[in-house]
Amino acid sequence: ASDIQSDLSDVLYTADQIQNRLNELAAEIEADYAGRDLLLVGVLNGAIMVMADLSRSLKRHCEMDWMAISSYGSGTQSSGVVRILKDLNTDLSGRHVLVVEDIVDTGLTLAYLIQNLKSRNPASIGVMAMFRKPEALRSPVEVKYIGYDLPNEFVVGYGLDYAGRYRNLRDLGTLAPHVYS
Ligand code: PRP
Ligand code: MN
Ligand code: MG
Repeated sequence: ASDIQSDLSDVLYTADQIQNRLNELAAEIEADYAGRDLLLVGVLNGAIMVMADLSRSLKRHCEMDWMAISSYGSGTQSSGVVRILKDLNTDLSGRHVLVVEDIVDTGLTLAYLIQNLKSRNPASIGVMAMFRKPEALRSPVEVKYIGYDLPNEFVVGYGLDYAGRYRNLRDLGTLAPHVYS
């Protein structure tokens, strides 16, 4: 079919559920970061949707910057290989940094990123991830703000891709088997 929504076999979280959860997390973040400047660091490409929606759910000032870092090739398995494709434009020293991710899967991307950002002397580093797969975790990473926990299945939508596609689905779901073959 030409409608990409019809390539999903199941919708796990709708756009409305995602936005409702983001509103709750935004309230937590506002309380936790009260009186402090906040720099949101989005991890390209997957975090574009959650960055756009989380930042607009905040009723306070924030700055945004971006890193491009990739641990996956074009397939569905984590390679464990992490590369910085684009670095931040912002000096992190003394900044309160909140890393914004679409998903924590094995945790390898985030483990590398946190270690890298810590070396730049920020005042604090926190992590927000819209989704997490607890069963897939291979590297211990502390994620303070979690949207939803997922089963260990390959999912797409809301910024998550399969071979670069399906990021622009508003919902999060599993791909139908016919898509892979
Ligand atoms: C995906 C996702 C996370 C990372 C999580 O990014 O957006 O950044 O994998 O996987 P991990 O916990 O196993 O490291 P990807 O590397 O596919 O790049 P993309 O955001 O450009 O899709
Ligand atoms: Mn990513
Ligand atoms: Mg990807």
